[in-house]
Amino acid sequence: SNALPLKGKKVIVTAGGTKERIDPVRYISNDSSGKMGHALAIEAWKQGADVTLVSASQLESPAYIARVQVESAQDMQDAVLKEFDHADAVIMAAAVSDYAPVKMEEQKMKKKDELTLQFKKNPDILKDLGQKKKTGQVLIGFAAETHELLNYAEEKLTAKNADLIVANQVGVKDRGFNVDQNEVTLLSKNNPPRTISLRNKSDISAEIIEWLINFMN
Ligand code: C5P
Repeated sequence: SNALPLKGKKVIVTAGGTKERIDPVRYISNDSSGKMGHALAIEAWKQGADVTLVSASQLESPAYIARVQVESAQDMQDAVLKEFDHADAVIMAAAVSDYAPVKMEEQKMKKKDELTLQFKKNPDILKDLGQKKKTGQVLIGFAAETHELLNYAEEKLTAKNADLIVANQVGVKDRGFNVDQNEVTLLSKNNPPRTISLRNKSDISAEIIEWLINFMN
């Protein structure tokens, strides 16, 4: 048949760095641009998937892809959980902030000589999905690390009950956060790690979506 391989499949892709508000005009975040997640959403759509892009990024995305704009990790979790029951796959490409301020100030904070902020741990969306997932649902996570990338990525595969971890070096100029290229290693259970050498994020995405298609069949 000439049907596209992901026809009838619902895929949720998260993208970007979440922002955790300190006061109405300030937040903490990270260097994730959303480029990888947006590229993945487009590749999944090209293969026929019904894609929802849950994005914390300021990047534009094509009008043909349904997008839910979020800011914080909590917003992102709410948006993903709303659709998870009907999802066949979730790709967590977002760089979710690990912490959020314990309290958001309602007014812009005034200057003082020293400032101490208190943070609480954010929900781990991927780990939560790993506990909720039903047979047939596929979970893909990312591991962005500056050191011991493959060791940490291997740990995440188990700790988060993911089907695939895309290991991605960050803190290097030519790949990872906020550039157009990436080099990744795919880690899944019962398979040797597979490295996809430095190339455009759209080409990396095509390989990841191909992994997904193979895994689903
Ligand atoms: O634990 P760590 O942040 O290194 O794991 C990265 C993976 O977990 C990514 O896929 C990221 O989207 C996801 N994650 C999450 N919720 C968090 C932290 C990370 O879903 N609070």
